[in-house]
Amino acid sequence: MPELVPFSTALRERSSAAHSGSEHAGFMADLMKGEGTRDDYVALVAQHWFIYEALEATADRMKADPVAATFITEKLTRLPALEADLAFLIGDDWRERITPLPTTERYVARIREVGTVWPGGFVAHHYTRYLGDLSGGLFIGRLMARRFGFETNGIGFYLFGDIADPKAFKDVYREQLDAAPWDAAEQERIIDEVLVAYQFNTDLFADLAADKHAKSAVA
Ligand code: HEM
Repeated sequence: MPELVPFSTALRERSSAAHSGSEHAGFMADLMKGEGTRDDYVALVAQHWFIYEALEATADRMKADPVAATFITEKLTRLPALEADLAFLIGDDWRERITPLPTTERYVARIREVGTVWPGGFVAHHYTRYLGDLSGGLFIGRLMARRFGFETNGIGFYLFGDIADPKAFKDVYREQLDAAPWDAAEQERIIDEVLVAYQFNTDLFADLAADKHAKSAVA
């Protein structure tokens, strides 16, 4: 009998190539190497605002679903931190000055589309963003702070004040993924949706790289 791999392990293994694609996308790699500018960083924060606005509005509705609800907690909520970051980085008129890039529009449409009708698809998008934020995200936040001289203003998105131990939190999240009542076919569909979510993130980095000169994301 082949040994049964827990769903959370299969999900991580099957998405690890897609993760590398996102992690090593030129725009992100430049920011990590110290070759991105403060404007580049601000453009990324602006796109995050549109994505988390969709994700967290969807989470609000998904609370009614018993399976999706297991994953939803205010400890993860990022929108207020993003809004404070944007006010600090751009100014109080930040909302009039930011525009979603084409990939962000498609990403947001997908979150809203699956998020309203398909709990497993919602969890796929929730997992891809928040487990990433609690992993590499913590490191990215520290690096951006050092690079651009931020203390907490400007990188609030990366500071999870209500999660003292990210590793323990992620372990529980993975246990919840393993305990969810999804059959093999549904697990496959969720893995596919995680791959779609990674592709959006990789494509967004390509949009951000292309926008460096046009600067249409932040006026
Ligand atoms: C420079 C960029 C990035 C770095 C350095 C990075 C780094 C990492 C590291 C070290 C882990 C493993 C943590 C652990 O084992 O607990 C991780 C996990 C993860 N990352 Fe990233 N990451 C980056 C970008 C991204 C992006 C853009 C996404 C998607 C939006 C993402 C999503 C994830 C997810 C979902 C996990 C959890 C995988 C799992 O354990 O199931 N990461 N990342």
